[in-house]
Amino acid sequence: MKVLDITKQKFGENAILYSLTNDNGLTMNVTNLGARIVDLIVPINGKERNIVLGFGTEEDYLTKDMYFGATIGRVAGRIKHGSFSIDDQYYQLPVSPENGHTLHGGLNSFEAKIWEVEVEEKNDQIAVHFSYVSPSGENGFPGELKARVTYSFTNNNEWIIDYQAETDQPTLFNPTNHVYFNLTGDMTQAVGEHRLFVASDQFAVVDSDTTVTGELRSVAETPFDFREPKSVNQVFETNYEQNTLVNGLDHPFMLNQTGFERPQAIITSPKQDLSVEMYTDRPAVVIFTAQFGQGGPDVRGQKLVNHGGITLETQIAPGAVEFEGFGDIILYPETTYQSRTIFKIK
Ligand code: GAL
Repeated sequence: MKVLDITKQKFGENAILYSLTNDNGLTMNVTNLGARIVDLIVPINGKERNIVLGFGTEEDYLTKDMYFGATIGRVAGRIKHGSFSIDDQYYQLPVSPENGHTLHGGLNSFEAKIWEVEVEEKNDQIAVHFSYVSPSGENGFPGELKARVTYSFTNNNEWIIDYQAETDQPTLFNPTNHVYFNLTGDMTQAVGEHRLFVASDQFAVVDSDTTVTGELRSVAETPFDFREPKSVNQVFETNYEQNTLVNGLDHPFMLNQTGFERPQAIITSPKQDLSVEMYTDRPAVVIFTAQFGQGGPDVRGQKLVNHGGITLETQIAPGAVEFEGFGDIILYPETTYQSRTIFKIK
């Protein structure tokens, strides 16, 4: 089997773009700015379709949206009021002036860093190892945290994300990836016609500011029941208060099973000519449907429509520092954090 191709080019003042092409002609472009996926280009009936939201330069990310495709950390989602305790030690993080919470590890977190890169070429996959050392006290978090994120791109059309981290003091760690999929490749088409499957019996109820309330609710008899695949429009088109409150999906779903035998979520394009399967060892996935209204950025020359993308942000559900039953995101010095999520294109 031939080795996959990889090329490198400048992506801006500091960032580099790595272009990985597999034997099936799929291309994944990634950058060290935020250990991020930029493009995922799939040949379909002789045409190339870019199925993730991304921009053309480092500058675009800095001015338009830093979260597109990025690694998120130290802690994905919102920490209410930016406060938490570890072993009776209280910590206060800087909070957003708009809502008083800390989102995605605070400003200029993982998504904004230039990560070190090491490329490893294997027989049937290429691994890009990104590493970043977050100094103790960065954005208010205790402990020096050594983080490593590996993207492996395989000839089975998989994008495998491996997270690893170590800390020298007890701290919080709950990373994710913020890729938005739009399987039409057309940024003027909302994802409403996509079909979604999620192996989840329960979701976390949110408030109007998108913090979780602590209630885990059964999906049964709600529009959030995706245990059989159905169109995302069935959420957008209801008056269900959990939809109208945040204008779509912006919710943690508790997964019924973890691991790599069966997908926990599947997104399928409207024409059913392409699917993305998600596999993870994380217990939850936050699904966000890009409700940017009229405020969406230009993506590759097209104005992003409202609901123009959908994320599958695997993690321990936000709320873990406040509520029982949401999981534990404390990382201690004696342990190495490790987790894996796979997106498989079919
Ligand atoms: C999501 C979050 C949304 C929004 C978005 C960033 O993960 O759930 O509420 O903040 O990130 O634009």
